[in-house]
Amino acid sequence: MSTRKFAAIATGMTLALTLAACGGGGAGTTDDEQPAGDDTAAEDTEGGLIGVSMPTQVSERWIADGDAVKAGLEEAGYEVDLQYAGDDIPTQSQQIDQMITKGAKLLIIAAIDGTALAGQLDAAAAAGIPVIAYDRLIRDSENVDFYVTFDNYNVGVQQATALLVGLGLLDAEGNEVADAPAGPFNIEVFAGSLDDNNAHFFFDGAMETLKPYLDDGTLVIKSGQAEIEQVATLRWAGETAQKRMEDLLTSSYSDGTQVQGVLSPNDTLARGIITALQNAGYTEMPPITGQDAEIASVKLIADGVQFSTIFKDTRKLADQSVAAAQDFLAGEEPEANDTETYDNGVKVVPSYLLESDIVYADNIEALLVESGYWTAEEIAAGQADG
Ligand code: BGC
Repeated sequence: MSTRKFAAIATGMTLALTLAACGGGGAGTTDDEQPAGDDTAAEDTEGGLIGVSMPTQVSERWIADGDAVKAGLEEAGYEVDLQYAGDDIPTQSQQIDQMITKGAKLLIIAAIDGTALAGQLDAAAAAGIPVIAYDRLIRDSENVDFYVTFDNYNVGVQQATALLVGLGLLDAEGNEVADAPAGPFNIEVFAGSLDDNNAHFFFDGAMETLKPYLDDGTLVIKSGQAEIEQVATLRWAGETAQKRMEDLLTSSYSDGTQVQGVLSPNDTLARGIITALQNAGYTEMPPITGQDAEIASVKLIADGVQFSTIFKDTRKLADQSVAAAQDFLAGEEPEANDTETYDNGVKVVPSYLLESDIVYADNIEALLVESGYWTAEEIAAGQADG
């Protein structure tokens, strides 16, 4: 790693710490808050305009991402046009068009639909504007220059591992338990939005991990719905997952059998699934997985309602995207650590993958509080400060 890049990341880290100190939680700040040191940053924008396009403010992670990317870029001397598209594809296309018209020098995009932005990317390429895909791969276009994300397949592996731990089949280190229960356990599986490339990676990683247990009959998907097309959740909507869980309870569990575990691909969906089970009279939850370490779910995990989540530190992802942006604008190629995995249908996009962690009730403190992601007070309240 070059010294300059390290300096950039270090700057981002200092900033994240400052933000955490001021805002009481790196994940919970909102776009309206002025980050510390913003006055100086705002005056020093000779680096030019950078467009940052985020999918939605409904899931809190994207708010944290947007805030952190904006703060990091401003700190580095850029002006930032940060837009949220309300999970509406035409709105996102239009916002990106406007960024290009306004003269953005670089675009950082977390796509709603990974295949819907080819026109915008063509325009960006024609204007010589580098494009960084943020967290979600943009598909079917030559004009994606770099991808910053987490190891999404491994996120799926971690989710399935957590489910197996919850069922007593693996220990907390992920090793087989010698006197593990034989099962069979009735489980159900959910996936994210089919137009989000990540949803496929999460599901593949999880299902590969569950496969031996499904093959030998330890696990049974009682509904028989095991294909991603059958279990996907359009736009990652919590209500849609709740409705599907309700339908499954009626169609496959009205004989009195219990759901004993649920693979949920993120926290928003996990909470919908929990609501469906609670409404059906479940007083104790089976192990239900998640992703994103959203504050409401972290509280549910602390309270023993949701079993696990996956912590993807959005501050680190934001730092990576800022470092990559600085490289491009200095005429250099950002450093990739994966040049094989992310084929977008036209080319393999050079990527920088970050690692994620499984959160259970007993490591919330170590992973989320000690890192300054959430404060103990926020977790107790189940709500982000400010
Ligand atoms: C992200 C997840 C998020 C999901 C829904 C995915 O692309 O990687 O972190 O839970 O979108 O917003």
